Amino acid sequence: MFEETLYQGKAKTLYGTSDPDELVVVFRDDITAFNGEKHDILKDKGRFNAAASAFFMELLASHTIATHFIRMDDTITMRVRHLAMIPLEVIIRNRAAGSMVKRYPVAEGTVLDPPIITIDYKDDARGDPMMNDEIICGLGILTPAELEEIKEKTRRINTILCDFFAGYGIALIDFKLEFGRYKGEILLGDEISMDSMRLWDEKTRESLDKDVYRENKGDVIKTYHTLLSRILPEIDEEFD
Ligand code: ATP
Ligand code: TYD
Repeated sequence: MFEETLYQGKAKTLYGTSDPDELVVVFRDDITAFNGEKHDILKDKGRFNAAASAFFMELLASHTIATHFIRMDDTITMRVRHLAMIPLEVIIRNRAAGSMVKRYPVAEGTVLDPPIITIDYKDDARGDPMMNDEIICGLGILTPAELEEIKEKTRRINTILCDFFAGYGIALIDFKLEFGRYKGEILLGDEISMDSMRLWDEKTRESLDKDVYRENKGDVIKTYHTLLSRILPEIDEEFD
């Protein structure tokens, strides 16, 4: 049962439940870019991202990666463990794109081997500044051991997801993860969806993710539909 609204983010709303250890996350149809400057409401966007996120959380659990995911209560409502979120956006990059290309001397699409992890502080008012290990540990956000654990988990998740997408001729360019503390453990939280990943068709380099929206490259809902029909046809059939 839903209790009070705990937090309304840019794309999801969190509600408390009668169990203090559990939350429900409702994936809304809002889509935003550039720190909320660009905003639209697109039918089915929440359902697409919820379905993808549930699938990937279960895939990771099958590889012994602990996540916040408990179950889907309906197509947009995910029941999760209530984490004390660590305010970091942990990004792992297999090829250069987005802010990597804007900030550093590297051409878009350059393979980064080994993959590069970059970490931003999650704070819209400060423009999500990039962190480094010394700032993260020096400010007490993580201990050095926790930082290493998060980086190691991120690399393992990257390997699992790269292998998954490679089977469908799709390159995982980069993605963002968020972690939180729960009963003495660090668990993966938030979402893994087309909003938080960059995916390119291996052959054509066509974007299959939110860049279609960020860069006005076409109909992002059609793109999400196409991606799901390719990787999760059984889930995509549930959408009209
Ligand atoms: P951004 O879009 O920059 O990620 P936001 O806060 O607007 O920021 P939303 O996805 O709309 O993003 O909001 C979801 C919020 O819920 C995030 O602040 C995220 O850190 C938090 N969150 C995700 N999973 C959990 C969880 N299991 N327990 C507690 N909080 C969570
Ligand atoms: P990045 O290139 O740092 O930023 P931008 O998307 O602004 O160019 O993004 C790297 C990846 O992380 C990309 O797949 C999008 C994802 N991401 C999020 O999901 N949320 C965020 O707040 C940020 C900064 C990135």
